Amino acid sequence: MYVELEKKENYAILTLNREKALNALNSEVLSEIREAIRELISDTKMRGVIITGKGEKAFCAGADITEMKGLNFDQAEEFARKGHKTMNMIAGSDLISIAAINGYALGGGLELALACDIRIASKNAKFGLPETGLGLIPGFGGTQRLPRIVGRGIALEIILTGDHIDSERALKIGLVNHVVELQELLPKAEEMMQKMLKYKGVEAQKVARWLVHSGSELPLTASLEREVNAFAEMFEKGEPEKGITAFLNKQKPEF
Ligand code: CAA
Repeated sequence: MYVELEKKENYAILTLNREKALNALNSEVLSEIREAIRELISDTKMRGVIITGKGEKAFCAGADITEMKGLNFDQAEEFARKGHKTMNMIAGSDLISIAAINGYALGGGLELALACDIRIASKNAKFGLPETGLGLIPGFGGTQRLPRIVGRGIALEIILTGDHIDSERALKIGLVNHVVELQELLPKAEEMMQKMLKYKGVEAQKVARWLVHSGSELPLTASLEREVNAFAEMFEKGEPEKGITAFLNKQKPEF
């Protein structure tokens, strides 16, 4: 198995387990990631996923370079679609996702991290989209997700130079939310996940996340209107009654 899935009470840790190839994404790894995400989506207790890589060297060194050698148009299209399907499944599901980046996050590995809601990195992490050096382009969403996170100028620098950037710079440009010691990485990711899942409206978290993700695809007036409607709809779902009543009674809300 290239993917390990450890379920906790209401979230899971998904670990890429192909350490010898620096957790590179071949078709099988991609398919196992989708299988694992599908399993979490179908388990109604599961509300979040932390994605990390086995070992101390790499989160994921990208799409499997050996698998891409000699592809024709149709095969390359199929490979890119597998990658997109996987990343879209993570970004488009209702699971809150945190990438816990424990080393190299290059090419498809960075694209996997970009498909997550939040990125936390260890100090030794290195990031980059080195595809053009292979005569390729980022093909698992990097040309679109990176500029939406760090802005167009920085994204173009990262894509066109192919440079590796360190965790300190990644923090400065907003590519990652936090940088911690390697041994603190999973504890930090789990602490954040638990905080996001405790005493928070389940539906409220889902809707807020959906508005943030889907809003960037719409003109501002349309996405603001969508927020108004979603806000109003929350009151028909019962969570505001619980949360507001608990606040007024000086209690912690249970959703
Ligand atoms: N695919 C397949 N195998 C990979 C790999 C990848 N992306 N990255 C590393 N490996 C393998 C190496 O071939 C090597 O295997 P062997 O032991 O069998 O020789 C093993 O992992 C260890 O790697 P290195 O010996 O190269 O380790 P290093 O410490 O010298 O270098 C590294 C580490 C800088 C990350 C280097 O491995 C590297 O540059 N890897 C490739 C990174 C890359 O270009 N990623 C982008 C891939 S293209 C892509 O992702 C396209 C897309 O968007 C869809």
